[in-house]
Amino acid sequence: MSISIGIHDLSIATSEYVLPHTALAEYNGTDIGKYHVGIGQESMSVPAADEDIVTMAATAAAPIIARHGKDRIRTLVFATESSIDQAKAAGIYVHSLIGLPSATRVVELKQACYGATAALQFAIGLVRRDPAQQVLVIASDVSKYELDSPGEATQGASAVAMLVGVNPALVRIEDPSGLFTADVMDFWRPNYLSTALVDGQESIGAYLQAVEGTWKDYSEQGGRALEEFAAFCYHQPFTKMAYKAHTHLLNYCGYDTDKDVIASALGQTTAYNTVIGNSYTASVYLGLAALLDQADDLTGKPLAFLSYGSGSVAEFFSGTVVAGYRDHLRTEANLQAISRRKTVDYATYRELHEWKFPTDGGDHATPEQTTGPFRLAGISGHKRIYQTR
Ligand code: CAA
Repeated sequence: MSISIGIHDLSIATSEYVLPHTALAEYNGTDIGKYHVGIGQESMSVPAADEDIVTMAATAAAPIIARHGKDRIRTLVFATESSIDQAKAAGIYVHSLIGLPSATRVVELKQACYGATAALQFAIGLVRRDPAQQVLVIASDVSKYELDSPGEATQGASAVAMLVGVNPALVRIEDPSGLFTADVMDFWRPNYLSTALVDGQESIGAYLQAVEGTWKDYSEQGGRALEEFAAFCYHQPFTKMAYKAHTHLLNYCGYDTDKDVIASALGQTTAYNTVIGNSYTASVYLGLAALLDQADDLTGKPLAFLSYGSGSVAEFFSGTVVAGYRDHLRTEANLQAISRRKTVDYATYRELHEWKFPTDGGDHATPEQTTGPFRLAGISGHKRIYQTR
């Protein structure tokens, strides 16, 4: 009999600040309907100057360590596409901030927004090899496009930390997976740029191609039938994209695309993404968090996951919700992470967007802005300095 492996705990974090789309619309003269209805976004998380992927990741992971301890964790996999260093893994800073033992392997993974799903699958492989071990998977990203570009409305920032192990308390991850890779230039960020480049319409088309491709492979690998799933957690660069993807999948499989059926399959997965914005690697797992936190009892129900990373790699897989999962949710803390954000006006957001460290190798302190448990205190001799408060 195969052992049960999956997500044992899940915790989210986001930024200090939030910009409502009403403020962006007022600044650039866009009809708010385009944001609220057209792309399905209400607001975007905006990191403080002293926050980054490391501080958000540590904030998401710390409660998991507090609840489960660190004795069984021998691997930390950090998925991101907004990396802070070309060589050193961001997870090493997190390892230090949350006090993991030295006998830990730490690595950073990248393939656009797909990275956290690769991390989850690799974690499952490690746990299968030694069921006594747990793997800490962290997805953390700051989604940043050029100011005044079409992508600007789809920015955001968040981290999701997941503890992966045997006999999971939340979701058992299942075989098979449907896989799809295609060499496309829909969204990318050259090393010399701090903001992503994107061909918006091309990226939507590439995502839909990947939905088809993963589903075809998933079916050929002997996966579940579409109607078995209680809900679908899609990667959500903007929440309307989940609706486009699911409509496309239903069409591809020859089903009707009834609005109410689609809304019931997706509706409860979008609550966090719609107010946080795109969080790249974390996005699909924020969808899962919102679903588990809000839905009526899902015990024993299969969920579908579609993870898409531009460039592109995608994976369709399933998980079954475990009996008693509600006792292990962090609903209040998750809601608090979102509601504690302070609203900024457009001018402040723009300033934060443009804020960056000088590159002269000097000592540069960051303004003290975050009220979270970890902060990026500054940079000295090109080295980032983090603090626990
Ligand atoms: N009221 C209601 N709806 C309105 C409206 C109004 N007043 N005005 C416009 N709309 C609708 C449009 O009809 C359109 O809907 P449909 O797509 O259903 O036709 C929607 O609002 C968006 O309008 P546009 O296409 O004209 O908007 P845009 O040119 O500003 O581009 C975007 C939108 C392509 C999503 C752009 O924000 C972008 O490039 N975002 C970044 C890329 C991205 O997120 N791509 C997604 C797939 S790639 C991926 O998933 C990886 C990743 O994380 C980046």
